[in-house]
Parts: sequence; structure tokens; C-alpha cells
Amino acid sequence: MLKFFRNLGFPRKKETQEALPAPTQVLTTDIHSHLLAGIDDGAKNWEESLALIRKLQIAGYKHFITTPHIMSDFYQNTPEIITEKLAELKEILKENQIDITIEAAAEYYADEGFMRKIEKGEQLLTFGNKYILFETGFQDKPRYLKQAIFDLQTSGYKPVFAHPERYYYLYEDFKTIEELYEIGVLLQINLNSLAGYYGKSAQTFAEKLISRGMVHWAGSDCHHHRHADSIAVAQKSKFYPKLLSLPLLNFELAKEK
Ligand SMILES: [Fe+2]
Repeated sequence: MLKFFRNLGFPRKKETQEALPAPTQVLTTDIHSHLLAGIDDGAKNWEESLALIRKLQIAGYKHFITTPHIMSDFYQNTPEIITEKLAELKEILKENQIDITIEAAAEYYADEGFMRKIEKGEQLLTFGNKYILFETGFQDKPRYLKQAIFDLQTSGYKPVFAHPERYYYLYEDFKTIEELYEIGVLLQINLNSLAGYYGKSAQTFAEKLISRGMVHWAGSDCHHHRHADSIAVAQKSKFYPKLLSLPLLNFELAKEK
């Protein structure tokens, strides 16, 4: 059985100027990233993919579910495109002797195209036991958000709401997030929110979710080097150990590996 954590050792006080020492425990399974080259706004080529994976590996990750965007307007990725790209990446990892496991799902943008796919019963990309990652636009709450969730759930999917702390429409509307939580939507925060990467409001919102025990998943949402570099900062934040004290589903997924 796999260990869920990797011991990175504790730096002595005089070795670091950071407010908090590096953690002794880190997540080893990531469920949100953009590491398949050239198919969304993530890694631009395989060289960048490899460099990002190496950085995430140093941060303690061993298992990856990478999640290219699927959006009707911008990224019309299909299960075929994603599966083909994943196979290519696996070959490259093997050639470079990078010892990680990687699978692919998707990050679905909750637009009309997505609604149509659910209605038509099209194949949707999931991970674990029918978990499906979705996001919305940042500014406005989509009219059909609850309908999309209902349709997914009645089709047997377990919706995972990507980075709720990043949506402006939720900042003054915590009630909506509580309602989503109540109806069984799983909430996934981005680790880099804890590093302040997306600003103070996102950080505060993520911290509030952690304090209330309303986080089911944590993800890197790694698109590029700045994201990968910021993970180490998030791991030293005050809320990182609090996050890891929650019964995160990342741990459950690690057990299945
Ligand atoms: Fe993402």
C-alpha cells in the first residue's frame, strides 16, 4: 500500500527565513492540472510538461489526474484527443525515467455545450469513482448551475466544483456554496489560493472553507511554472496543515493506486 505522504524533513530554524517550516506531510495525489501539451492554456510543449511534472514531483506528488479544459468556445477537446495526448505523455515519461503515475480526465466548463453533452448521455471524462471536475465563469453565476449539477447527479456522476474560492459571484454569496455543499457537490480548492496567488479574497474564501471543513479535494491547477513554483509557498502556509487534517478525498484516491 502506498504511503499518502512524503517526509520532506524539517529545516532547522536558522536555515529558513519563512514564517513556517516546510511541512513534514504533503499531498501525493493531484487531481487538477493542465499538463498535456498544446491542447489548452497549460503546458505549451512536452518540454514544459516534463519540467512542470519534475517540479511537482519535488513538491511531493507521485500520482496525477491531469484535467485539460473542455470549453465549447475555446478548447474543444474530446475524450479521443485527451486519451491520445495522455498516451504520448506516458511514453515521454518512460523515456525520461520519470517515476510517477498519470491519468487524464477533464475540467468541464459549465456552458450550454456541457449541458447538451449530459443530456445526450455522451461519454464524459471522469476520474476515480465517476468524479467529474467542472468550473464556471468567474464573474456571473450561471443560470443553469443547479440544473447541470442535478443532471450530473441523476446520471450517476459525482460533481467536483473546481476552485470555488476563485468565483467573484460567490464572495458575497456564501449561501450558494453552502447549498451546493448540502446537495452533495464536492468542493476542490486550489493549493495556490493558500499562497495568496489569486489575491486576498480567494485566499480568505479558501481559508473559510477549510475552517468550516467544507473542502473535499485539493488541486494544484498547475498550468505553468509560476503555479508550480508557488506550491512550495502554499505548503508552508498556516492553512496547509489544517487542510491536510481534513478527510480529503485525495487520500482515498491515493489508496486505490
Ligand atoms: Fe484548471
